Amino acid sequence: MKRIFLLFLFLSILALPVFSQEFTVDDAPDALSPSHSETPGLKNCLKCHTPDLEIDATKCLSCHQEIALRIEQQRGYHKEFTEGCSDCHTEHEGAETKLIDMDPEDFDHEETGAELKGIHAEIKDCRACHRADNTIPRKKSQSFLFTRSGYQACHAAPHPGRQDQCLACHTQRNWRVDTWIKRAKR
Ligand code: HEC
Ligand code: HEC
Ligand code: HEC
Ligand code: HEC
Ligand code: HEC
Repeated sequence: MKRIFLLFLFLSILALPVFSQEFTVDDAPDALSPSHSETPGLKNCLKCHTPDLEIDATKCLSCHQEIALRIEQQRGYHKEFTEGCSDCHTEHEGAETKLIDMDPEDFDHEETGAELKGIHAEIKDCRACHRADNTIPRKKSQSFLFTRSGYQACHAAPHPGRQDQCLACHTQRNWRVDTWIKRAKR
């Protein structure tokens, strides 16, 4: 009898990892944010979680290629955040979820790698630059990620030449260019 019990115990321990991967929505604290309610959807726990319900950054990044690309290229706000996504992005509070908890009034723009100076520093409305027509489209929210990177998101140069580095010749105050730069670079 004792032997059969031990065998049963042994078999159940073996089976444990298999069964524990089959979570249901009842195992979740609450519904997901509106942004995630359809994709991946609450029932697909393992799209975000490991089998022991930890958060796996590689799973987040497999959907969020826009962030993965910035980490790979070492640019933008997320350039150094290869893990710890859930330190800043919470979930499971339904419509109340603050998936992004950011206060634009208290945001240090230098952390994005773009230091706003001159006229740019005087613009207080983030959405004056990060507009719906120049950021990646989202259904449930508005992104900060430009579709064209750098200054070209807002400015097309009215002249041929180096389209990438406006600041090689211009300042962030106005479009006037120092005479010596004009002679040297054009
Ligand atoms: C969109 C990705 C996503 C999906 C899908 C998802 N979760 Fe989560 N879950 C998270 C994140 C992010 C956290 C961390 C929340 C936090 O720290 O505030 C979390 C936390 C948890 C926690 C820990 C809660 C706590 O207070 O410590 C449990 C348990 C959990 N999830 C279970 C589930 C189950 C079960 C499912 C499937 C039915 C599921 N989750 C689906 C993203 C997800
Ligand atoms: C004058 C225009 C301007 C204003 C105003 C502005 N930004 Fe930016 N922002 C930029 C530029 C330019 C970049 C660099 C984009 C790049 O290199 O692709 C940037 C980058 C960012 C990024 C990083 C995007 C990424 O690719 O990771 C975030 C986040 C961001 N800004 C948030 C804000 C917030 C929040 C505010 C308001 C507090 C704000 N910005 C105001 C021009 C602006
Ligand atoms: C230190 C806090 C922090 C960490 C860690 C972090 N994020 Fe973020 N995340 C933010 C903030 C603040 C924003 C809003 C500014 C922005 O859009 O870049 C954001 C925005 C986003 C966005 C929306 C971007 C947009 O504007 O369209 C996605 C997607 C995202 N994070 C995914 C991730 C993933 C995946 C990870 C883990 C690899 C991660 N984040 C790690 C703070 C963080
Ligand atoms: C199966 C794909 C998928 C996975 C996995 C996934 N996401 Fe998302 N995520 C989405 C979609 C779809 C949206 C909504 C895009 C839209 O609004 O059009 C979104 C939106 C977001 C946003 C922006 C929300 C906002 O309000 O601006 C953040 C931040 C984010 N996800 C972080 C994460 C993190 C962190 C993880 C891992 C725990 C994760 N996502 C896992 C598909 C996914
Ligand atoms: C190689 C140097 C150089 C680069 C790089 C450069 N510019 Fe210029 N740009 C000039 C010069 C020189 C003028 C003429 C300005 C003057 O006469 O003071 C000018 C003029 C302008 C003007 C017109 C100003 C007016 O008064 O009408 C705008 C707008 C402008 N540039 C935008 C840009 C943008 C946007 C970029 C980046 C995408 C850029 N430039 C990159 C050298 C440059």
